Amino acid sequence: MTMKKMTDRLEAVFTLIPKAEVIADIGTDHGYLAVELVRRGRADKAIAGDVNKGPLASAKAYVASTDVAQFINCRLGNGLQVVKKGELQGAVICGMGGFLMRDIIEAGPELLDFYVLQPQNGQAELRQYMVQQGYRIVREVIMTDMGKHYQAFLTLKKGRESVYVTADGPVTQATIDAKDPYDALPDTSLLWLIGALVQREKPPLWQDHMAHLLHIRESALAGMTDAMAHTEKYQALAAEVKELKELI
Ligand SMILES: C[S@@+](CC[C@H](N)C(=O)[O-])C[C@H]1O[C@@H](n2cnc3c(N)ncnc32)[C@H](O)[C@@H]1O
Repeated sequence: MTMKKMTDRLEAVFTLIPKAEVIADIGTDHGYLAVELVRRGRADKAIAGDVNKGPLASAKAYVASTDVAQFINCRLGNGLQVVKKGELQGAVICGMGGFLMRDIIEAGPELLDFYVLQPQNGQAELRQYMVQQGYRIVREVIMTDMGKHYQAFLTLKKGRESVYVTADGPVTQATIDAKDPYDALPDTSLLWLIGALVQREKPPLWQDHMAHLLHIRESALAGMTDAMAHTEKYQALAAEVKELKELI
């Protein structure tokens, strides 16, 4: 049996990627997504970057085995340090922690027109960071893959949104014209974690997504002793459980 290369998680992420000339897949590992960027016409060229030699070697071998090898450049290095200023319009970063993604974006070498991000944790902080940097979160998806819950989002640099509008892509005129639910969202809102667009759209997995977030917090509370009930951590978790229940 051959393993499915583009997992359900990667397929869901893929739906968020706008069309551009050059897109980087940072933390490419196997290189599957970088290949699909070119194969499915999302990018004319792709840069597949990884900081570790083993994953980069497997990406190189896979890319070389495809019919789009001449359009994909595999590069060894930390984050977006493998690219030069002006070389690309956007980056996809999947399957690593949100804080690492934030560091990668911050280290540059420049702020790109768009990022498609699928953080494994730190979603609230990453969303807040992107908004602070002058980006608008325009699309969000939630998905499950092999029983695990994931979320991903597309951020576009404010003022550059119209460049990526297409009739059938992830960014339509209606996407841009819609009210931005992150505008004036208090820093403390759990919607930074849940996804304010997801909450507005309530896709089929909405109840599962919320039940999962609730379960994590209720399990953590159940693991705490009575003596911990007065700690800040306990109180914060209990407040989150209350807010989640109100949002379901
Ligand atoms: C869990 S894998 C995810 C692979 C793929 N992006 C996906 O979502 O299926 C994380 C990959 O990121 C790479 N990585 C971790 N830190 C990185 C960094 N600072 N810069 C580039 N790649 C990094 C790892 O070597 C690994 O190949």
